[in-house]
Amino acid sequence: MIAGDMYEMSSHSVSNIVQRGGTILKSARSKEFMTIEGREKAHKALVENGIEGLVAIGGNGTFTGAMIFEREFGIPTVGAPGTIDNDLYGTDYTIGFDTAVNTALDAIDRIRDTASSHDRVFFIEVMGRDSGYIAIQSGIAGGAEVVMVPEVLTPLSTVVDTLRQGWSRSKSSSIVVVSEGEEEGNATEIANKIKAQVNVDVDIRVTTLGHIQRGGSPSARDRILASRLGLGALEGLMAGQKNVMAGIINDDLVYTPFEDTIRLPKPINEDMLRMVKILSI
Ligand code: F6P
Repeated sequence: MIAGDMYEMSSHSVSNIVQRGGTILKSARSKEFMTIEGREKAHKALVENGIEGLVAIGGNGTFTGAMIFEREFGIPTVGAPGTIDNDLYGTDYTIGFDTAVNTALDAIDRIRDTASSHDRVFFIEVMGRDSGYIAIQSGIAGGAEVVMVPEVLTPLSTVVDTLRQGWSRSKSSSIVVVSEGEEEGNATEIANKIKAQVNVDVDIRVTTLGHIQRGGSPSARDRILASRLGLGALEGLMAGQKNVMAGIINDDLVYTPFEDTIRLPKPINEDMLRMVKILSI
């Protein structure tokens, strides 16, 4: 918008992209849009191109920008939640989350092969910024012994106890999934602290999965979710909605004010963490 780099799209413009990762729109975080000068340029380009409404795909930052833009220039926006972090209030799942979880799970499964073949403990760091959704879901699905998330404190002594219990039952491998926003530090820092505490000769390794979690062909669930939310956002906009995000809750399309999606937390289900403990016995 700021560069006025626009072209009219037809239905053919999106043919053959449903199976691709990334974005053909090249939309991304923009420092310039955070300034009034940047937003003025964007508004000018929209007016010149006869654009009267926007669908914004992203997370909290995107929706904050859209809300400010609407207040300043009166261009209505409806949002579609696109982030692997699944941290947005107003939708059960965000676009990209399921694919990221499945990518992380595939990596965990592969790492488990090395862990169990060579009796190792792996600390695997997954993304999620301040949210533990990817960690908890990939951790449960991958049979992790411990999952550490930013939302709930996991004392290092608990990690040590769980590992020791496993060794006492002759477990050949252990996997600790660490969310990148974890309070105790990143996976390497945590692994070093644990190594110092366990005081036995154990082979501890660390893998940080990083951006592989953001790319790749989307899962079926993500393709369907993106299709529903894209259509939902567009139809909402055409029906006169503004400053709301389209989401799916209990399989129903709902619109939630940007203010709420930005302000309200989306807590993780702590029962899932309890389950990790039970399943790792
Ligand atoms: O918000 C999505 C996310 O992938 C986070 O999980 C991660 O912390 C961040 O973006 C990475 O951003 P960047 O690609 O700018 O390093």
